[in-house]
Amino acid sequence: MTSVLFVCLGNICRSPTAEGVLRAMCDERGLSETFFIDSAGTAGWHAGKPPDPRAVRAAAKRGIDLSPLRARQVTPEDFHKFDYMLTMDSQNYSDLAAIQPSNSRAQLLPLLTFAPPGSPQDVPDPYYGGDDGFELVLDLLIAASKEFIAQCCARED
Ligand code: 4NP
Repeated sequence: MTSVLFVCLGNICRSPTAEGVLRAMCDERGLSETFFIDSAGTAGWHAGKPPDPRAVRAAAKRGIDLSPLRARQVTPEDFHKFDYMLTMDSQNYSDLAAIQPSNSRAQLLPLLTFAPPGSPQDVPDPYYGGDDGFELVLDLLIAASKEFIAQCCARED
């Protein structure tokens, strides 16, 4: 079992979308017992809230249901619970790096480390933009998740 926590700022746009994308891909590939997947925000402003309706709509068009998800803030225990903490942008990364304990179990990595060459380093925050921002988020997350699964499965062989 590989455990993965996706992290963004609010946990209502990018990281719940990443959670839904990876879960759907694992389901398709018969890997739902191989991965434990969750998401959280560095900020707690939206704790308890469902994902942004624009994120829910964009994911639904690709057959992914985000509606059951609820936002939560990252906790110190997450560093001990998860194998990977995958951040959406460099601010999320530096916020977590600043509080990562020295005996952390989690490997802290920017998610787009797993994106194809030429991709941006950050998943752009779509919160203040239009619907096309949510489509770009999905495109980036789908590409990176495929490579993440491939690398994890290669290591387990
Ligand atoms: P997320 O997007 O980090 O992808 O969930 C945001 C959600 C909410 C806010 C900012 C970014 N906000 O300022 O409330």
